[in-house]
Amino acid sequence: MTKIKKAIVTGGAGFIGSHIVDALIKRRIKVAVVDDLSTGQKKNLNPNAKFFQVSIASPQFPQIIKKLKPDVIFHCAAQINVRESVNDPLKDARQNILGTLALAQAAADANVKKIIFSSSGGAMFSDAIKPPYSEKQEAQPVSPYGIAKRAGEMYLDFFHQTHGLPYVALRYANVYGPRQNDKGEAGVIAIFAGRMLKGQPVKINGTGRQTRDFVYVDDVVKANMLAMRKNATGIFHVGTGRQTEIKTIFKKINALTGGLMPQRHNAAQPGEVMRSALDCRKAKQSLAWQPSVKMDEGLKKTVEWFRKQK
Ligand SMILES: NC(=O)c1ccc[n+]([C@@H]2O[C@H](COP(=O)([O-])OP(=O)(O)OC[C@H]3O[C@@H](n4cnc5c(N)ncnc54)[C@H](O)[C@@H]3O)[C@@H](O)[C@H]2O)c1
Repeated sequence: MTKIKKAIVTGGAGFIGSHIVDALIKRRIKVAVVDDLSTGQKKNLNPNAKFFQVSIASPQFPQIIKKLKPDVIFHCAAQINVRESVNDPLKDARQNILGTLALAQAAADANVKKIIFSSSGGAMFSDAIKPPYSEKQEAQPVSPYGIAKRAGEMYLDFFHQTHGLPYVALRYANVYGPRQNDKGEAGVIAIFAGRMLKGQPVKINGTGRQTRDFVYVDDVVKANMLAMRKNATGIFHVGTGRQTEIKTIFKKINALTGGLMPQRHNAAQPGEVMRSALDCRKAKQSLAWQPSVKMDEGLKKTVEWFRKQK
């Protein structure tokens, strides 16, 4: 790919987006962040990035892309609450489908060289198939959030076919690390760490035997940087391929935070996927990406960061 000098990061005040911004600035790339601060925070913003407090669903957003003409756009902004997407699918679609479509159209008009889309692996598959899921398996999203991510991938593919606009859709597994919001409904590691450090009770949904594929945020940033540099286009899974039970996560974080929390359970969440993991061999082959942060190391860094927060 030709040299990248300018980037836009949507959702750059959020958890994953802000780490991507930091990595770009380190590489001396000029960065503009577009974020409406709905879940993101000003303190996550890199002071060397330009900041536009604008929603991706607003008419101003395509104008910013056309004015700045970035070489690459990292699209991380999204309504990320799955339950909210079920309660209000129209609101979810306005941001997650129409926002992504407006981005793709403006990017094509502004001759952007590549879009890197934060998609979701966990939202694409259900217990109907056995993990680890590969990109070859048919996506069967069951929530409006997952449907919107799939629609985003398909629109990006449409713009690739019709306008020659390259894209990489990175389907993340369960990402964790510093700056993750511990007040949301997702992000079990952030929620457990945040609450345990404050001595607040933690409850495991159901038996805790349900599994997820946890990938550390630095590895996710690395996948984004490789996606920017390499010539690949298409969908790539970004996880570890390993399943970890939620009760194991409970035990590990409990041990890191003093081990005082009794193990308590809530009723199981209706419709919750029981097992999940991503087969990431395609990303290894085409992007030369593989995760390098071991879970114990990632958990330790995450708990350390939460400990420093007030
Ligand atoms: N965290 C995970 O485990 C995970 C897994 C799969 C996919 N993803 C995807 O990665 C991306 C980043 O997620 P995150 O975990 O960092 O969440 P986050 O909530 O920390 O980040 C999302 C950011 O987008 C901003 N935003 C939301 N709606 C917006 C809008 N309409 N206009 C402008 N900005 C808006 C928020 O203020 C926030 O800063 C999302 O697209 C999410 O769907 C995350």
